[in-house]
Amino acid sequence: MKNKIKIMTVFGTRPEAIKMAPLIKELEKESASFITKNIITAQHREMLDQVLTIFKIKPDFDLNIMKKNQSLSDITVTVSQDLAEIFQKERPNLVLVHGDTTTTFATSLSAFYQQIPIGHVEAGLRTWQKYSPFPEEMNREMVDDLSDLYFAPTKKNYDNLISEHKDKNKIFITGNTGIDALKYTVNDSFDSPEFNDIDFSKKIILLTAHRRENQGKKMEKMFQAILNVVKSDRNFLLVYPVHRSPAVQKAAYDVFNNEDQVKLINPLDVVHFHNLIKRSFVILSDSGGVQEEAPALNKPVLVLRDTTERPEAVQTGAIKLVGTDPYTIEHALRKLVSDPIEYKKMAEAKNPYGDGQSAQRIVSAIKYYFDLNPCRPNAFV
Ligand code: UD1
Ligand code: UDP
Repeated sequence: MKNKIKIMTVFGTRPEAIKMAPLIKELEKESASFITKNIITAQHREMLDQVLTIFKIKPDFDLNIMKKNQSLSDITVTVSQDLAEIFQKERPNLVLVHGDTTTTFATSLSAFYQQIPIGHVEAGLRTWQKYSPFPEEMNREMVDDLSDLYFAPTKKNYDNLISEHKDKNKIFITGNTGIDALKYTVNDSFDSPEFNDIDFSKKIILLTAHRRENQGKKMEKMFQAILNVVKSDRNFLLVYPVHRSPAVQKAAYDVFNNEDQVKLINPLDVVHFHNLIKRSFVILSDSGGVQEEAPALNKPVLVLRDTTERPEAVQTGAIKLVGTDPYTIEHALRKLVSDPIEYKKMAEAKNPYGDGQSAQRIVSAIKYYFDLNPCRPNAFV
């Protein structure tokens, strides 16, 4: 009998955990072929632990690195050093990373130094703008340069990798595991005492915002523009689960505190958040993952960023890139909330990101890579 393949997943932030969880669940089903160990860097702490609880994931290693206002250099150095020790001892056959955070980059660097193969989940997303988003665009480009296996969510992501001369045999079009996660979280009859304070008789405008390149005065002006629209109709209620980053907390509480049409709440666990998307009218977000989830739940998203690495949903019409200029944001939001035809077009546009089978495709691709499967998995279309 062949030796089992040892796979280590490494992740550190809320979005990585949400999108790795369905894959971890699929890998666990393959215990005849794989030994899977999960490492968390805890670049995030509370926001990561919320996800681990929901998906009942018990990490094998917890680097516990989070510091208040941590710098990118802090994260890079600590993660790559701590992992070097673990990788030297454990010698996995494959390290799986997700997306574009600094945990993702530092993990890939550390695995590369140990000459351990790297599989990149959510490979090939690009804006081609070095500082937008910052530091994520360069993180994902560098991770793709270091990777051996690419799990590209869409054909566009595949094309991006091909244009960089990555080996086509190593790229698999899988869909996005974030859409798989919705199968675990969304429930039509979901309710919770945590929602008692939200008046669902109002039209809920749900906001998430955290990007480093928007923090400071720029973020405050964006928030002010949103507030102008919210206050224009007593029937609107803005709900904002505020990210724990101190810079984001400051902007949110400076602009929105004491506004009776605004509810600032703590970050929600992913079950509550996905179900809150379902019960909202409009979504405003600079998040990556929310740009994928909301179209799958038929909710229009105005993307509060100057660029997006997710042009597929712009093309289908499900999301609109409105930028970070306050005037443009205000104008776009006024139009969306007052024009039923525009609203319907966005809400009914196709979700191009997945069919809920992405984790299975990734597991099949890994088996194929290790000669445990004779056939390449079919691409997600
Ligand atoms: C990180 C990622 C970003 C991703 C985002 C998802 C980097 C450089 N950035 O950004 O790509 O989109 O996560 O949310 O990798 N904090 C807490 N508790 C938590 C989480 C954060 O207190 O559970 C606070 C800490 O003070 C921390 C700060 O937030 O220093 C910023 O966290 P950090 O991970 O450095 O950056 P994010 O903006 O969260
Ligand atoms: N999310 C959550 N609780 C919240 C806000 C967001 O669980 O209060 C989820 C959201 O559904 C998505 C992910 O967090 O899956 C997005 O994380 P974030 O916006 O922090 O990061 P990004 O996707 O921009 O990297």
